[in-house]
Amino acid sequence: MDIKILDEADIAKMHIAGRLAAEVLEMIEPHVKAGVTTGELDTIMQDFIENQQHAISACLGYHGYPKATCISVNEVVCHGIPGIQHLHNGDIVNIDVTVIKDGYYGDTSKMFRVGEVSPRNHKLCKCAQESLYAALKAVKPGVPLSIIGDTIQPIADKEGFSVVRDYCGHGISTEFHTEPCVLHYKNSASRNIILQKGMSFTIEPMINAGTWKCKVNKKNGWTVTTADKQPSAQYEHTLIITDDGCEITTHRSDENEISPVFHN
Ligand code: MF3
Ligand code: CO
Ligand code: CO
Repeated sequence: MDIKILDEADIAKMHIAGRLAAEVLEMIEPHVKAGVTTGELDTIMQDFIENQQHAISACLGYHGYPKATCISVNEVVCHGIPGIQHLHNGDIVNIDVTVIKDGYYGDTSKMFRVGEVSPRNHKLCKCAQESLYAALKAVKPGVPLSIIGDTIQPIADKEGFSVVRDYCGHGISTEFHTEPCVLHYKNSASRNIILQKGMSFTIEPMINAGTWKCKVNKKNGWTVTTADKQPSAQYEHTLIITDDGCEITTHRSDENEISPVFHN
């Protein structure tokens, strides 16, 4: 198994792509309100990526995916296809954006809360975010990739939530999805992969309120929902392993809880 090691020039370009992806989520925030459709949000983001950022959506046309972003509402775990669905007060919404700039990728997602959400849904979103942050704080050269699942799983377990097993984080730089496969649950498969400076990958835990089991929509082949129709939440960052921790290429200005660079 070969995991690409980035040099300084690669890293500079990863920072540019990552910043653009983060900026799309910052830009869309005021538009995510009750009444708007997911298709309208997607159009605003596609226009911004193409005409303001002069970048490319990595999702549009990826294995035939029809839209520029993924918008996953409530029980949708990931790969929600934007369309005619209206957002309602109380919805929890994941928006996942991947941009390509100068051949390099930035991939990130966050949860948006529409109006007042239930305490349980709020807790679910918080849990997904905190589990991502804990994993980011745990990675550095010399530790096994399995530290990520070892960190995230207990945080979900403690709340009575579950970690999705069917989808993982991924290596990313000049390609969208490469090795390694970043599992978010406890596993032995990634214990012998040791992190090194210059590796870049995503961490993107999907946390379900009920069962971890998922179903793929048979009609469109994309939309993933929880098997029990209970809600799901996800946060994603792209990171690069540094000398003593990691740097987050997709860090947003609203993230006061974490810094873009960790010295672990
Ligand atoms: N951005 C997603 C990820 O985190 C992948 C979306 S692929 C798409 O890996 F085709 F559905 F857009
Ligand atoms: Co990803
Ligand atoms: Co993504």
